[in-house]
Amino acid sequence: MKVSTTNAPAAEIEAEALILAIPEDTGKPTSWDAVDAIVGGIVSEALAGPGFQGKRGQTLALSTPGNHCRELVLVGLGMSGEIDLEVWRRAVANGITKACHRGNSKIAVPLPEIDGHDSGELAIAATEAAILTSYRYREFKAAPPEFVELEEIMLAAPVDIAAATMRAQKVADATCWARDLVNTPSNMKRPDSLAMNAREMAVETGLGFEIIDSGKAQQLGLNALLAVGQGSAVGPRLVILEHRPIGATGQPTVIVGKGITFDTGGISLKPAQKMGDMKADMSGAAAVFGTMRALARLDAQSWVVGVAPLAENMPGSQAYRPSDIIRAYDGTTIEVLNTDAEGRVVLADALAYACKRYEPCRIVDLATLTGACVVALGSHAAGLMGNNDELCNALISAGEATGERLWRLPAWSAYDKLVDSEVANVRNSAGRGAGVITAGMFLKRFVGNTAWAHLDIAGTAFLEKATPYEPKGGTGFGVRLLTHWLST
Ligand code: BES
Ligand code: MN
Ligand code: ZN
Repeated sequence: MKVSTTNAPAAEIEAEALILAIPEDTGKPTSWDAVDAIVGGIVSEALAGPGFQGKRGQTLALSTPGNHCRELVLVGLGMSGEIDLEVWRRAVANGITKACHRGNSKIAVPLPEIDGHDSGELAIAATEAAILTSYRYREFKAAPPEFVELEEIMLAAPVDIAAATMRAQKVADATCWARDLVNTPSNMKRPDSLAMNAREMAVETGLGFEIIDSGKAQQLGLNALLAVGQGSAVGPRLVILEHRPIGATGQPTVIVGKGITFDTGGISLKPAQKMGDMKADMSGAAAVFGTMRALARLDAQSWVVGVAPLAENMPGSQAYRPSDIIRAYDGTTIEVLNTDAEGRVVLADALAYACKRYEPCRIVDLATLTGACVVALGSHAAGLMGNNDELCNALISAGEATGERLWRLPAWSAYDKLVDSEVANVRNSAGRGAGVITAGMFLKRFVGNTAWAHLDIAGTAFLEKATPYEPKGGTGFGVRLLTHWLST
């Protein structure tokens, strides 16, 4: 898909379809007057009729009398006081879906004026919307013949938006790349081959990389990662990617992603229903890989190390079992109560190892960690916990800017006691209350004094139901959020 920009006024853009955004309360913006005039006033006419009021989610396609574009697609922005970047992103997405369904593959989006946001921000959001809306997982089945692929999106503004658009394109492409990894079935992404995918990407983009295989993990004492992986015929891996701009000094930021390539639950086997969704249990790792890809392609100025513990959680004669006690990399002993609480176990080693080896200024982990997070927040926000307000607030702001929203949960010491074990330092499951928080408290034991934040993306990484710019399946959640946070 081609993304281009132009300074041409809306009335002079050449495209098959033009998307015009319209607020609900203030009606047709004066910026669309010239377009309306050359199409014989059909926009004003439509707005006077009953079919379209500019409400959020509304779209209306209008065939033009000729000369100009084939069609105009009106998209609603809702009340003018309540329009933010996410409203705009969704409006563009809805407009593109509508225009494509009607057979248009070259679509122009003249940027509207939205209070509090400059053209650069609007261009970024629209570019993301176009690319993310057009995404489909097509590895094993071709598109149906009636599907109209978006070939070109043209953004129009009176000021220069080329640089912002180009950046957004790289970030959205990295998000789609991460979505592909999440949507890949688990027979095609065992820990060894997923590590190879990451390596290929690293070579292609110029990232540093290292793969710690099972033998090396044994030497290092990454026993928690090894324990989770021991039920699978394909042993675990720890993948490390590094983006280090020339001249970078000080300490890197480390991002860590849970990479369970399939989560059966292990000996504490999950029920059959929807178990297939657990192919997405490596979404944290996908977000880390996607972010590293974006940072490399953007030539970002911050020094970032991406770490992903990869393992397949399987039952079997070699599998770890409830009651096992594991001595983790940092010496902490872990009592296994439930082999299905495996994410926190692999992350324990990844976090401790990264803290020791890199002494990061801050460390952020992403994980499809708990069903409890899905119960608490559904799919509209990821759970956030951390030991540092500045870090948490920066991530929350990045979430607002990108539409990948976070909601902070408490990490009070009262919760810390819940992960104590009678026979070891910690236990990997803590009873029914506050399951999303106790999982985070478990992780907190492995970061020492490092500024740390944890994102539980169990509800946001993989969707059962599509949203305007996310088809169902993998979303790539975290790539846009982290890239924004690390590069602006
Ligand atoms: N990968 C799951 C969490 C999950 C559930 C992600 C649903 C996405 C959708 C995780 O490994 C898990 O099984 N967690 C258990 C923890 C429990 C055994 C303490 C859970 O949430 O039930
Ligand atoms: Mn599990
Ligand atoms: Zn899991």
